[in-house]
Amino acid sequence: MNERRNFLKTACKPIVLAALGIPILEACSTDELSSNNTIRNGPSNTEPKKPITINIKNGLFSDLQEVGGWMNYTTEELLLVRISGSEIRAFDNKCPHQGNRDRWTYDGSQFTCQYHNNSFSNSCSGSLTCYETSLEGDVLTISFD
Ligand code: FES
Repeated sequence: MNERRNFLKTACKPIVLAALGIPILEACSTDELSSNNTIRNGPSNTEPKKPITINIKNGLFSDLQEVGGWMNYTTEELLLVRISGSEIRAFDNKCPHQGNRDRWTYDGSQFTCQYHNNSFSNSCSGSLTCYETSLEGDVLTISFD
C-alpha cells in the first residue's frame, strides 16, 4: 500500500491520469519553458559559462609561461596554448571528430587528437572552438560568450 502511495506522490501526473484511463496531453519533463519559448534542460545547459581567471604563475600552469607551451586543462575542458608573450589561446578540448577530450598532443602549430590522429590548427578560425582570452600580466581571463 505504501509503495502505491509513494508511486502516486512521485509519478508524473499525466501518467497517473493515463493509468486511470483519462487521456491528456502534457509533457512529463521537468524541463522549463523559458520566456522566449526555448526548452531549458537545466541550469548547467542554459546559463552561459562564467569567465574564468587563471594566475599562470600558479605551478599548475607553468607550461604556459613560455611561448609554445601548452596544456590540456581538463578541469575546465580547455586546451591552453601560449602563442606569444602577450597571447594565450583557449580552445574547447572536445575533439571535433568524436568528442574525446583527453589525448592531445601539440607540435607548435597543431593539436593532434591521439584517438584517430586528426590534427587541428591552433588558429581561432580552425575547427576547434576558440574562446576569447585576455592576458594582463600573469592573469589570464577566458570568456565563453
Ligand atoms: S576522437 Fe579525436 S581524432 Fe577521433
